[in-house]
Amino acid sequence: MRVSILAAAAAVFVGASSAASVPSSSASVPSSSASVPGPDANGKYWIHGEGISAAFIPYGASISDLLIKDQYGITRDIVAGFDNASYYSIDKQHPHFGGVPGRYANRIKNSTFEIDGVSYKVTPNENPTAQAPLGADTLHGGPDGWDWRNFTVVAYTNSSITFSIVDPDGKEGFPGEVVAFITYSLGKMTWDFKMVAIATTKTTPIMLSSHTYWNLDGFSNNQTNLALNHSFYMPYGGQRVDVDNILIPTGDIIANKPGSVNDFWSAPKQVGHSFNDPEIHGNCGFNCTGYDTCYLVNRDFPYDWRKDGYVARMQSAWSGIQVDIYSDQEAFQLYSCNFQDGTMALKKSQGLFDNPKFPRTIPKYGCFVMEVEDWIDAINQPQWQREKKHIFSPGGDPYVLQASYRFSINSTATPA
Ligand SMILES: *[C@@H]1O[C@H](CO)[C@@H](O)[C@H](O)[C@H]1NC(C)=O
Ligand SMILES: *[C@@H]1O[C@H](CO)[C@@H](O)[C@H](O)[C@H]1NC(C)=O
Ligand SMILES: *[C@@H]1O[C@H](CO)[C@@H](O)[C@H](O)[C@H]1NC(C)=O
Ligand SMILES: *[C@@H]1O[C@H](CO)[C@@H](O)[C@H](O)[C@H]1NC(C)=O
Ligand SMILES: *[C@@H]1O[C@H](CO)[C@@H](O)[C@H](O)[C@H]1NC(C)=O
Ligand SMILES: *[C@@H]1O[C@H](CO)[C@@H](O)[C@H](O)[C@H]1NC(C)=O
Ligand SMILES: *[C@@H]1O[C@H](CO)[C@@H](O)[C@H](O)[C@H]1NC(C)=O
Ligand SMILES: *[C@@H]1O[C@H](CO)[C@@H](O)[C@H](O)[C@H]1NC(C)=O
Repeated sequence: MRVSILAAAAAVFVGASSAASVPSSSASVPSSSASVPGPDANGKYWIHGEGISAAFIPYGASISDLLIKDQYGITRDIVAGFDNASYYSIDKQHPHFGGVPGRYANRIKNSTFEIDGVSYKVTPNENPTAQAPLGADTLHGGPDGWDWRNFTVVAYTNSSITFSIVDPDGKEGFPGEVVAFITYSLGKMTWDFKMVAIATTKTTPIMLSSHTYWNLDGFSNNQTNLALNHSFYMPYGGQRVDVDNILIPTGDIIANKPGSVNDFWSAPKQVGHSFNDPEIHGNCGFNCTGYDTCYLVNRDFPYDWRKDGYVARMQSAWSGIQVDIYSDQEAFQLYSCNFQDGTMALKKSQGLFDNPKFPRTIPKYGCFVMEVEDWIDAINQPQWQREKKHIFSPGGDPYVLQASYRFSINSTATPA
């Protein structure tokens, strides 16, 4: 019963071309199917575009590989992940590696929120204290959030894949069932995605994102294994969400003054450009140096998110790879991998092979996460008046997130 509902709904959200491959009798695509290929020997579902290929796995609906050629024609795998799908469930230390955090991405203050006068407590999983041994807040949907669970493949073609999840009523303390569809597709040097989530039984908060760890040098730069020399530009990012020392929003929206550490809007600059400025210390929470920051996207309405300018651009002079991120979301989080500590292994497709200069692991600041999202923890900041983007009810509008990551080679990328 559920299966056919999912398949039918997936057909609606994915569109006619890929809907044709939705199997009528099963929600998962078996590898033995004659018409539709399944995962490879490592459990990865590969899709292809022009000049780009990527692999995805059911665990967290995660991207595990993204292949693109650098300015010398060498193929680079520019996202972090594991070599095989089964390892994601084994290595529990992985920090939301390429998955979809849900049902509510980022942090929920005190693990509580109120809807229609009813107070809800969700399962905490971060910043444990003596008073709150499980944690003072909830990060990315709780200890068993969506990116720790296996999604179901409901559609799969040569260029796109759709995953679904049914998140039961009460799971991690959230009210009501949520059904979601995540569609990834590749085009001409582009990676697009669309996330749709529906509250089917009760009013509930929903906020999703894509939590991909990037290194546009394919973790193979032979001069530095850090990503701090990547150049970052966020032309609409003049303001950010103010946070306390455990990264919980205070309710204030603050200015990224020109020349300050959080100014990525007045001009592009290297991610590590401001690391000599004393203000970078504590910028990502207590005793934390770097970025884990939610910037607002201040655009003039109305706009066409597909055409009217990218929300963020990241580029590396070393590989020449540039990505322009277009999105309908009104915030953008940059995390500079402040908590990587060299325990996460590179994939076989990454790193230096004949040069032992760097270990085959991801060091602190060796990557970055770029999350398209809405204003974080808005469910606890009613004065922001963003209920329509965060609270969803049966029969009401669905939650929708869309993004387009457009890659190019830009060998004139500024090094400073
Ligand atoms: C899949 O797409 C790629 C890139 O567009 C193409 O080279 C390949 O032939 C396609 N494979 C199939 C089975 O259609
Ligand atoms: C799966 O990948 C992990 C990490 O990338 C590796 O340690 C492990 O040996 C692999 N297992 C198999 C069966 O290939
Ligand atoms: C997810 O699926 C993989 C591959 O079938 C399996 O090894 C793993 O145990 C599953 N993990 C969870 C959390 O269900
Ligand atoms: C924090 O959560 C607890 C329940 O765990 C609740 O008693 C308390 O009122 C909440 N505090 C705030 C400020 O919402
Ligand atoms: C470093 O990488 C660049 C770009 O791929 C290459 O041109 C250069 O020869 C490499 N240098 C060494 C010492 O391997
Ligand atoms: C602050 O961070 C530094 C560097 O990571 C560490 O050595 C130090 O112990 C930390 N201090 C506190 C009070 O946590
Ligand atoms: C290439 O990068 C430079 C430096 O950031 C930028 O000014 C230029 O617009 C980029 N070119 C393209 C075509 O994106
Ligand atoms: C990184 O950028 C800085 C500042 O522009 C420059 O001094 C340094 O040589 C660069 N390092 C590498 C490895 O490209």
